[in-house]
Amino acid sequence: MSPPTGADTVIERAAELDGWMSDDQGHRLWAAAAACPTGGRIVEIGSFRGKSTVVLAAAAPAAVEVVAIDPHAGNDRGPQEIEGFADEAAADHEIFLANLRAFGVAERVRHVRAHSGSAHPEVRGPIDVLYVDGAHRYGPARADLRDWGARVADGGTLLVHDAFSSIGVTLAILREITFTGRFRYVGRTRSLLELRAEPGTPRRGHVVRVLLQLPWFARNVGLKVALTLGLGRLLGDRAPDWPY
Ligand SMILES: C[S@@+](CC[C@H](N)C(=O)[O-])C[C@H]1O[C@@H](n2cnc3c(N)ncnc32)[C@H](O)[C@@H]1O
Repeated sequence: MSPPTGADTVIERAAELDGWMSDDQGHRLWAAAAACPTGGRIVEIGSFRGKSTVVLAAAAPAAVEVVAIDPHAGNDRGPQEIEGFADEAAADHEIFLANLRAFGVAERVRHVRAHSGSAHPEVRGPIDVLYVDGAHRYGPARADLRDWGARVADGGTLLVHDAFSSIGVTLAILREITFTGRFRYVGRTRSLLELRAEPGTPRRGHVVRVLLQLPWFARNVGLKVALTLGLGRLLGDRAPDWPY
């Protein structure tokens, strides 16, 4: 099958891959990547099997570097998969590479097989589009937003998955993004948060918009607790999906 082209076709085909990117989130990622300036750089933290990577890479203008950072080491692999998934992660790595080939973007993506905390020397220069979807525990999520977020160029875009859905990611956002005055809230597609690096813009509107997401966060935490306790089974086919 020939590689897909164009937002609708790529996102439709990507929907068949394993991962946690919904179609509407794919469109937000596509728009951000497509707007990356010539000579710019897109960095993804947490690629898994490449579902979001193929969208970013297919959307990126020709002269843009696309870097995907994922150790495929079996830790922080997905919801409730924190440690001990080395065998699955080895398969993730092979499937990631195969998916990049199938989407015709294997040559467009530079994979850095490392944890984000040790990958900084592998990425030179400022970042125009940063997509954070790696470890979701508070410590590493906070380090990603703080240390990689600091590398987003003024005017650049920071996208964060599982915002106001994962407790660790949400606490990291509140700590590193909400009150610092460096990023402005742009919008959200489900749990995919988009921010713009605009130092010096008035903070109040941004802070209010972030805090307005907290009721949705409370709803998602409640939903996850209910699903973890098995209460979803009571609703059968009407049980809601794991929120992301
Ligand atoms: C939720 S998945 C990413 C999903 C992917 N973006 C998609 O659309 O399908 C999280 C990924 O982060 C990776 N990961 C875990 N810890 C990481 C870290 N410290 N740095 C980079 N990636 C990490 C895992 O190996 C896993 O593949």
